[in-house]
Amino acid sequence: MTGQTPRLEIRNLTRRFEGRAVVDHVSLSILPGQVTCLLGPSGCGKSTTLRMIAGVENQDAGEILVDGAVICDSHTHVPAEHRRIGLMFQDFALFPHLSVADNVAFGLTGPAAERRARVETMLDRVNLRRFIDAWPHELSGGEQQRVALARALAPGPRIMLMDEPFSGLDNRLRDEIRDTTLAVLKDSGTAVLLVTHEPDEAMRMADDIALMRDGKIVQQGAPYNIYNAPVDREAVAFFSDVNVIRGTVQGALTETPFGQFLAPGVADGQAVDIVIRPQHLKIDFDRNGSGPLATVQDGTPARGVVVRARFMGNESLVEFRMDHDGSLIKATVPNVFLPKPGKPLWLTIRRDRCFVFPAAG
Ligand SMILES: Nc1ncnc2c1ncn2[C@@H]1O[C@H](COP(=O)(O)OP(=O)(O)OP(=O)(O)O)[C@@H](O)[C@H]1O
Ligand SMILES: [Mg+2]
Repeated sequence: MTGQTPRLEIRNLTRRFEGRAVVDHVSLSILPGQVTCLLGPSGCGKSTTLRMIAGVENQDAGEILVDGAVICDSHTHVPAEHRRIGLMFQDFALFPHLSVADNVAFGLTGPAAERRARVETMLDRVNLRRFIDAWPHELSGGEQQRVALARALAPGPRIMLMDEPFSGLDNRLRDEIRDTTLAVLKDSGTAVLLVTHEPDEAMRMADDIALMRDGKIVQQGAPYNIYNAPVDREAVAFFSDVNVIRGTVQGALTETPFGQFLAPGVADGQAVDIVIRPQHLKIDFDRNGSGPLATVQDGTPARGVVVRARFMGNESLVEFRMDHDGSLIKATVPNVFLPKPGKPLWLTIRRDRCFVFPAAG
């Protein structure tokens, strides 16, 4: 990333409803051809952010820039239709009374022959040229979605705003459409801001993920960084199930049934949460009441009994009730591992895979 001008930049964008900031000083920038996913729980302000960028909702404060030029701040307001921003929302509905060609041509101006050529190019890109004279009701859901994508891209938007555009599709189709969409968007140098509340979708699509909560961006970065260096317990929990072990700090260490954990920079007496994903626990067999030896990497094993085990396809999920405090802990194992309920087993926690955060509340 050199000093390239972002295609889209927003600075301190803020929107209040009845005194409550539902979008609160949100800043982010997206380079041409890059995809940023805005990821967060329902009601956190994702759609409101998109609507302000699209120009269909006014901000209370902040700036929006496209290719370095302000399109919206306290003095300037470029109207929605002049922003060259494409929109694709969940209810992307094609116009039922227009043919596929006319749907794609909808936002185009200029001579008829030019428009027709552009429509053909766009339909080629989404591999639907053969449907050019068809009606929307003659297409499958996935084909309609691709026509909607062609329609959104036909006027050559510099930016695409997508609000859960794939949520109406069934799983298998969704993967395929997502990949096609991504390829077409990357190819056209469009900057994409994609709203989703599905972490898998964000990991699959995004160059950058912005985690949003209560109107604020709490963390932003490449999927790898967000997944492996989460800022807090909720950020971990957004991407997977989590186990949380509560401890209290004494001399930058916290003592637990799983051994000691480092808690650098945390004051004595402060409670911490040790957060661990189910795939990062190790399971060992019980040998006459004892487990594996403690190691530096895995700490001390703790024993639990199997509550239930389920096969999930790529992995098995085993739930344990721990001997030491009766708490439940989940662990996943690749492939098939289905121990009987009541069976005692030993769990260890990989030190390099757990996160230690000051306890909330
Ligand atoms: N016009 C409005 N008047 C009052 N409150 C609003 C208005 N529009 C949105 N809100 C509130 O702002 C908050 C954020 O709404 P927004 O639609 O941006 O959430 P979201 O993150 O898109 O959620 P979802 O994932 O459910 O679509 C919500 O609490 C919502 O009720
Ligand atoms: Mg929304």
